[in-house]
Amino acid sequence: MLSISTPVCELLGIEVPIVCAAFGPWEEVGLAAAVCEAGGLGSLGTAVRTLPELREQWAALRGLTDRPFAINHTTRPFDEETFQATLEERPAAISFHLAVPPDLIARAHDAGILWIQQVCDARQAAAALEAGADVLVAQGGEAGGHSGDVGTMVLVPQIVDMAGETPVVAAGGIADGRGMAAALALGAQGVLMGTRFLASTEMSVSDEWKQRIVGADAVDAVKALNSERILPPFNRPGSFGVPRSLRTPLVDVLREHPEQVDPAETVPRVTEAVLGGRGDEYLPFTGQSTALVHDILPAREIIRRTVREAEAALERAADAARP
Ligand SMILES: Cc1cc2nc3c(=O)[nH]c(=O)nc-3n(C[C@H](O)[C@H](O)[C@H](O)COP(=O)(O)O)c2cc1C
Repeated sequence: MLSISTPVCELLGIEVPIVCAAFGPWEEVGLAAAVCEAGGLGSLGTAVRTLPELREQWAALRGLTDRPFAINHTTRPFDEETFQATLEERPAAISFHLAVPPDLIARAHDAGILWIQQVCDARQAAAALEAGADVLVAQGGEAGGHSGDVGTMVLVPQIVDMAGETPVVAAGGIADGRGMAAALALGAQGVLMGTRFLASTEMSVSDEWKQRIVGADAVDAVKALNSERILPPFNRPGSFGVPRSLRTPLVDVLREHPEQVDPAETVPRVTEAVLGGRGDEYLPFTGQSTALVHDILPAREIIRRTVREAEAALERAADAARP
């Protein structure tokens, strides 16, 4: 029996306040289903995939679970046709990253869909609150994938102070129950984890990538500077974010000699690899929390262990604080 529950659980219709990240173009239907069935919130990304492929994923997920899940969109690029189809699909929530879009939030609410807005700084949080986002994900710069520069330890309490009754979920650098306990102590109502769930048995990325996550140190997860040479452009105002990735020859050359990367040759190669479930040889988006991941586990076990560890960490902290 999982025993950590906060008001965001009731809002999202979940049992435990753990959200699994959307992983852009990487296919994660099996993982999302496992997370939902274990009581958390599973997510599906939409980047780069065609609408027929996405519709197949949505149908497959609904075939595996009848629990709530989120469909994610970003601005790299934002695709109107896919967004409209998402509204018609009516997931419990739409999550969004890399910019705050008040017009899209209003359309989701008109369709009766909750809005989970991932934010990287206080300015984005203020815009999201103004636009009526239902949940804010305060994402620190430690995170895998795109993020800003503010660390989770500063961003979470800063956004909790701004958010009033709107629930805040912490993301970036959280891979175990100690991180979850810390997030709750900072005022968050839950956590969103990406890197930890990448190294799950259900995630469809290559074993090589999972093994690298298990073996890597935090300093191996670097900002993939100049990745605009090979990633799609942002296509909504106010967008920003630089991806964090494990180092590869491509990441190193992008950081040090971007002019040597020929987009015409590289983009098709990387896209094909990513859509084929690989991509670890080019841009394995991964956060600093890789240093805290020591094993590849089923999603249910990740959730169970994280909750147990968080309970123990909160008790230890309370004991330590007693005179
Ligand atoms: C491989 C990968 C792909 C990601 N793609 C997305 C995405 O498409 N949309 C999104 O909102 N966040 C995306 N993120 C960021 C996550 O939502 C989350 O903020 C991050 O994983 C949290 O940090 P952590 O990796 O330390 O847990 C991605 C993260 C990773 C690792």
